[in-house]
Amino acid sequence: MARLSVHKLREWKAKGQRFAMITAYDYPSARLVEQAGIPIILVGDSLGSVILGYETTVPVTMDDIVYHTRAVVRGTQKAIIVADMPFMSYQANADEAVRNAGRLLQEAGATAVKLEGGSHVAPLVRRMVDSGIPVMGHLGLTPQSVNQFGGHKVQGKTPAAAAKLINDARALEEAGAFAVVLETIPAPLANMVTERISIPTIGIGAGVDCDGQVQVFHDLLGIYDDCRPMKHAKAYANLGATIRDAVRSYIGEVEGGAFPTPAHSFEMDESTMGELTHAG
Ligand code: KIV
Repeated sequence: MARLSVHKLREWKAKGQRFAMITAYDYPSARLVEQAGIPIILVGDSLGSVILGYETTVPVTMDDIVYHTRAVVRGTQKAIIVADMPFMSYQANADEAVRNAGRLLQEAGATAVKLEGGSHVAPLVRRMVDSGIPVMGHLGLTPQSVNQFGGHKVQGKTPAAAAKLINDARALEEAGAFAVVLETIPAPLANMVTERISIPTIGIGAGVDCDGQVQVFHDLLGIYDDCRPMKHAKAYANLGATIRDAVRSYIGEVEGGAFPTPAHSFEMDESTMGELTHAG
């Protein structure tokens, strides 16, 4: 089965068809979200926090993203797989950046890459696109710059910052990006950007007017209780509690001798038993 093409996203925008993207980082989660009908999966560098336990996305490496993207690709057939370019995989050197982006397609099997930044990364986006690499942009609260922002703060709140964000979105569009994530910006600003560019916007904490939305798998499923996700996350399930209950039941049954039952055990035939008994 052929994967969806990144060009579909523009068609959906033109038709006013909203779409959902979600992160996934491994084979089972990728299978589950595709079975549920997700058309586009992001192997986000958020895996640094939700899978690897880091405080930020900054320590995530190219090898981490390649490893997780491969598993997601193996678990899916149809979805567009976007692999995040981690911190310092594209900032220092343009040749290295193009090679790293190529690695995510060639070695990991991604359909496209995502990188953070506006006008200053536009020439790089153009080089990648000209090399045959579809690129998704990412503006607003770009987590790799969290140290520069001084925390997870709403971006684009002043007239100058909002105008810059609109220009950045245009620069990414002109450079050939096929979509742009807008993270944690005021909803009216996201609306303006969405109306002013022809490529789809994908919001997270950017209001309802974006063409698509993205959520982090673990936030959506309510898996964690120790790190409270930001206001923009919505838990559609409480799997953390479900998993803890299941594991508690398992512990209880093992300690009480109720598991395993004969149904979970393997028999030995009578003659072998007999021989063993005679052999002492
Ligand atoms: O890494 C990630 O999961 C992301 C999304 C939050 C957009 O970049």
